[in-house]
Amino acid sequence: MAGLLGRWLLPLVLLIGVSTAECPSYSRYSQEYHEPFSTGGHKLSYMRPSPECRTFNSSGVEKAITKLKDVIADPDLFRLFENTFPNTLDTAIKWRGTASNNSDEELCFVITGDIDAMWVRDSANQIAPYKAVLKQKTDDIASVFRGTLNMQARYLIQFPYCNAFLPPEEAGINAGTNGARYKVTPPYDVNVVFTCNFELDDWGGFLQLSHDYYNRTQDLDFFSKFQWIPAVQSILNAAKDMQRPTYGPDGEWIPPAYTFQSYTMSAAGTQGNNGFNSPVNYTGLVRSPFRPSDDSAIYDFGIAANMMMARYLDSTASIMAKLPNAPKGLAGEMRDLANDIRGGIEQWGIVRSPTGQKIYAYEVDGYGGRNLMDDANIPSLLSAPFLGYVDRNDPLYLRTRDFVLSKMNPWYCKGSVISGVGSPHIRPCAVWPMSLIMQAFTTDDYWEIFAAIREVVGSTSGLGLIHESVDSNDETQWTRQWFTWANGLFGQLIMELWEEKPDILTEGFQPFRYENKSM
Ligand SMILES: *[C@@H]1O[C@H](CO)[C@@H](O)[C@H](O)[C@H]1NC(C)=O
Ligand SMILES: *[C@@H]1O[C@H](CO)[C@@H](O)[C@H](O)[C@H]1NC(C)=O
Ligand SMILES: *[C@@H]1O[C@H](CO)[C@@H](O)[C@H](O)[C@H]1NC(C)=O
Ligand SMILES: *[C@@H]1O[C@H](CO)[C@@H](O)[C@H](O)[C@H]1NC(C)=O
Repeated sequence: MAGLLGRWLLPLVLLIGVSTAECPSYSRYSQEYHEPFSTGGHKLSYMRPSPECRTFNSSGVEKAITKLKDVIADPDLFRLFENTFPNTLDTAIKWRGTASNNSDEELCFVITGDIDAMWVRDSANQIAPYKAVLKQKTDDIASVFRGTLNMQARYLIQFPYCNAFLPPEEAGINAGTNGARYKVTPPYDVNVVFTCNFELDDWGGFLQLSHDYYNRTQDLDFFSKFQWIPAVQSILNAAKDMQRPTYGPDGEWIPPAYTFQSYTMSAAGTQGNNGFNSPVNYTGLVRSPFRPSDDSAIYDFGIAANMMMARYLDSTASIMAKLPNAPKGLAGEMRDLANDIRGGIEQWGIVRSPTGQKIYAYEVDGYGGRNLMDDANIPSLLSAPFLGYVDRNDPLYLRTRDFVLSKMNPWYCKGSVISGVGSPHIRPCAVWPMSLIMQAFTTDDYWEIFAAIREVVGSTSGLGLIHESVDSNDETQWTRQWFTWANGLFGQLIMELWEEKPDILTEGFQPFRYENKSM
């Protein structure tokens, strides 16, 4: 989501923080070094707020940290894990409570980190890593899943195209409105919505988190009782609108359901063609005028976001099918949309690279227009197996992966500090550590995983948190000190390795020149 550029371009009126006088602002805290430093060569700062300043305590997360202290051999890797895995819970659970008209309906308002609003996509990704410690619906962390899903459902019912929101009335937080100027259809309420960049992965994120919660708890009751069914209906209705082509059968223009224009210095901060963006043909795919980076798309059919949507529509259709109070046929509608999307990806999303290889395109328009690149933000092409859309050994995926992690991808950069995928959201050679984390998630190659983790551990500028981007040759040039999505993703990787490839956690991740006899 919006990083450095977005931050200074939007004249935001930030929400008034609820942190008490004794608790330092984490925006500042995360830019300063705190003792004790880790004992490896990177001397990473300790970045957890003091216990009384943490915004949620999860016994499962604390247990995992304690256990991994004995498992992870490298002190710098352990420090990075210990700082990052709990970061969302430590710093970003701004408010929890219940709905004013239903005291059983939990609500949780999760801020992205250094921007004081709740993104649907970010919050899904911020909470998802805790599925590693979610065992049953009575666990303390389960309430955070339910509260986040209920909050997202409320937003998606009201404004399905919007991506970031202000605290609910129940929170009693005196939030200012976003002072930036936008012209958006359909219109929205500025007292509820922070920004309304429509990104398909907001829906994908909501469905993914729904799947994660169900998968761990089998708590069907939750999905029946609150706003989940109407939220899915809202998504399906809007998705059908966003499948519509630009021209009807007789060549007449069909104005799109969603348009967006903004006063901004950044071309990627608004939509071309007077807010309509480029025309699209009918493909079965769903338009995503904005990318997971919050940048505008070149072509609206983002392939990775559609992969995510198809996969999680299928997974959550199985939940819907089990709900006694779900309207008849709704699960079937979800599966039909997933099938439309899969068909569109097969027909339009697979293209030839300049070397003649068949690979997935990043974006297409259904006219033959295609954009060959990958962006570090997830959903990305690199993340396709992580999203559960393809197997990591699928030949088409492997060819796409080779393309993404090579100079053929215009957003790939090699450097002395870090090599990986960046994003047009920042600039060339501002590599996103998130892309190296995703590289590690999507391979079984032991040394590739090792090398990716080693670069991430070695490129935090000693701060011990995952930054949005890092200059490929200078770890002190980074963006976003407090990016809890990326922090959580790193924690999730370590938790997954612990389960599946624990040997890696016993390796050393030190810089070459470092020698420490006590290690
Ligand atoms: C978390 O636990 C600490 C004590 O260890 C307490 O001071 C703090 O208030 C707790 N935070 C929340 C949100 O309950
Ligand atoms: C609570 O209010 C929401 C609208 O904000 C409504 O959709 C929902 O049905 C209400 N729930 C109950 C239990 O009345
Ligand atoms: C949860 O996910 C795992 C791994 O994908 C799968 O094997 C299991 O069947 C799922 N359980 C449920 C209840 O969906
Ligand atoms: C537009 O899509 C239709 C089918 O959905 C296809 O028959 C047609 O060839 C496409 N148009 C172009 C210009 O590719």
